[in-house]
Amino acid sequence: MKFFIDTANLEQIEEANNLGILDGVTTNPSLMAKEGITGGEAVNAHYEKICAIVDGDVSAEVISTDYVGMMKEAETLAEIAPNIVVKIPMIKEGVKAIKTLYDRGIRTNCTLVFSAGQAILAAKAGATYLSPFIGRIDDTNWDGIQLIREIAEIYAIQLYETQILAASIRSPRHIVESALAGADVVTCPLKSILGLFNHPLTDIGLEKFLADYKKG
Ligand code: E4P
Repeated sequence: MKFFIDTANLEQIEEANNLGILDGVTTNPSLMAKEGITGGEAVNAHYEKICAIVDGDVSAEVISTDYVGMMKEAETLAEIAPNIVVKIPMIKEGVKAIKTLYDRGIRTNCTLVFSAGQAILAAKAGATYLSPFIGRIDDTNWDGIQLIREIAEIYAIQLYETQILAASIRSPRHIVESALAGADVVTCPLKSILGLFNHPLTDIGLEKFLADYKKG
């Protein structure tokens, strides 16, 4: 399973990249705004900075909701760097754009996915990645991980090549459950990635080994 970090914060991206286990980055307009990055030129310049840090795929989201606008934005974004993946919303015009981009060899991440039916449409259109938002599903008292399981089963039966990118991760446990459910990628806040390190027995055990070494 690939690990992406879900942020537009350059320091956090560098910290995760320095761990040596980072495979990519996802962003969205809300994450950009959180860093004070708004407006086309500033956003595109920020993508350049992210792509200079990370070798792996960097998802850059369009803000148009019509086919022509999405295609124009997608072409501009794809020119920023070879590792840009264009993030397109799961709407009718978006699915049309994903299909055309697939035909033109531009990779896409279909975002705002909340059902298996939407996952089938995105795979049919040729999306490179599919982003089911598991945390937001859990927030509505449904089961986000169950959706990952269902999509993984459908994609395996149908031999779809789209990679399942578990998004809207809220905790280290979500990462573990996504791996078990068959996600190809997880995109997580730095806090959830770092949370995977934590176990009190590791800390107690290490403390004892170091204390015993000093005794000898
Ligand atoms: C990433 O691709 C998504 O945009 C992101 O994971 C959404 O996360 P949120 O539900 O915490 O906003």
